[in-house]
This record gives sequence, C-alpha cells and structure tokens, in this order.
Amino acid sequence: MKRGKGMRFVGDSRISADKTSGVPKDYSEYPGRTEAFWPNFLLKEWLVGSVFLIGFLCATIAAPTGLQGLADPTDAAYIPLPDWYFLFLYELLKYDFASGPYVLLGMLVLPGIAFGALLLAPFLDNGPGRRPPKRPIAVAMMLLGLASVFWLTYESAAPVDFKQIAADNPPVPPAEVELDIDHEGYPVYENSCAGCHGDTLEGGASGPSLLEVDYDADAIAEIAVEGIGDMPPGIFDGSDEELEQLADFILSVSEEE
Ligand code: HEC
Repeated sequence: MKRGKGMRFVGDSRISADKTSGVPKDYSEYPGRTEAFWPNFLLKEWLVGSVFLIGFLCATIAAPTGLQGLADPTDAAYIPLPDWYFLFLYELLKYDFASGPYVLLGMLVLPGIAFGALLLAPFLDNGPGRRPPKRPIAVAMMLLGLASVFWLTYESAAPVDFKQIAADNPPVPPAEVELDIDHEGYPVYENSCAGCHGDTLEGGASGPSLLEVDYDADAIAEIAVEGIGDMPPGIFDGSDEELEQLADFILSVSEEE
C-alpha cells in the first residue's frame, strides 16, 4: 500500500482506495451479483429473521396456552394437547404412516427431512436471480412446508373445543398451608397419613385433601383406625395418646383455613 503523496482515496477519505482487506470487491465484476454476502446480505437476512422471531414471540404471548388442573391419571377420557405451535407435529403423529411401528418416521425422519432441507436451500436454484419466479424449487419447498404446517395445525385444532376443555379442568391454586411442625401430632401424621393425604394435607392421587374436614376429633380418630370408604382400616396402630394428638393436629391445620 502506498503512503503519503501517492496515496489515493475513495469517497470517504478515511478509506484508502488501495486498502484491500475488509473492503468488498466491486460487484460490477460479477454480473448479476449486487452486494457482498458478508456483511450486507447476512445483515438483511438477520433482520428479516428477527422480525419473524419477534412476531412469533408476540403471537405466543397474545395466545398463551393456559394452565389447567392437576393431571389425573385415572381420567382416560382427557386428551392432553401440546401448545398450539406444536400442534402440527402432534397431528402428524396421528397418521398411520407416522405412528405405531412407523413412529420414528413421524418423530424424526419426516421433521428431519423438512428442517434438514433448509440446509440445501443455498444449493437449490443457485442462479443469479433473486425474485421468487427465478427460484422455483426453493419457493415451492417453502410453500409446501408452510401449507403443511398450517393444514396440520388446522386439522388438529378444528375439532377440539379448547375453551371448553380449559373450563372443565381449571387450575387449582396451591393451598397456602402453614404447618405447625412442632405439634406432637405432626410426626404421627407424617408416618401414617402423609403418604396418601400429602405432606401438607393437600391431598394427592391416593387420598383427598384433609384441609377442610367436616369431622370432629373423635370422628377423625375413628377414621384413622377403622378407615372410611376407599381408605382401608388399620392404618393407624399407635397409642390412644398419639391418636388424640394426630386428630388434634389435623384439626389445627384445617381450622387455620
Ligand atoms: C392408603 C391411603 C391412605 C392413608 C395411608 C390414609 N388415608 Fe385417609 N383417606 C384415604 C382415602 C382414599 C379417603 C377417601 C375415602 C372415601 O371417601 O372413599 C380418605 C379419607 C380420609 C378422611 C375423610 C376425609 C373427608 O373429608 O371425607 C379422613 C379424616 C382421613 N382419611 C384421615 C386419615 C388419617 C388421620 C390418616 C393417618 C392415620 C389417613 N387418613 C391415612 C386414603 C388414605
């Protein structure tokens, strides 16, 4: 590079016309190509990508998938559904060719081909033209992909009344229980009852909540020994004093409600 007197400049006088590194070549040398891949073209691509990403994030915020109630393993009629933006993948798995023995096809191969084909995009239609009609293969693949995503999502969502499902199965806010773990009855409860009625009396899969029992201490003591309904008898086998403390503990928690 020449310095001093013989130095030449481009329009911006801080950049020497003789500077070679980092300055894109003059694209008149490449007919049909108009700009540098790095950084010009990538920057544009990145901008378009961000617009889509932000738009998509806004859509997920505008149409959130609400919480529902606790999962109930005994309710075989309940059909769990993924969030709406995964419904197309979910629908794919309902077709015979992508489920059962072919489930790997539906889970890995088909989505893999669809997304893997994106890698091929630069090698398809690699003529100089940029307008969609000049890139028929890439454009057709893109449209096919979009159409399948929209169609599968529609097929999956149209027959389902999401609002009704959510209304039938509302979330249960966790009970705010303050346990008096110094209570004499607490260790008895932990040992004999917590396995079914939950660590905080909130209930669980095998026993109901004991937070709002309608029984007095004697009745609770009786249930602890003799069982009730689906609760088997003989669960408690300690002393009478412990039994009294246990009933007292359960009442002390439910009375705080
Ligand atoms: C094997 C699981 C299991 C264990 C352990 C268990 N329970 Fe239960 N309990 C149940 C089930 C199931 C019910 C519901 C019975 C029904 O209504 O059919 C129940 C109901 C109750 C009820 C009546 C609740 C209501 O509102 O109707 C009380 C009180 C109770 N249990 C107390 C206890 C106590 C005290 C202990 C510890 C000594 C205990 N349970 C241990 C399963 C259990």
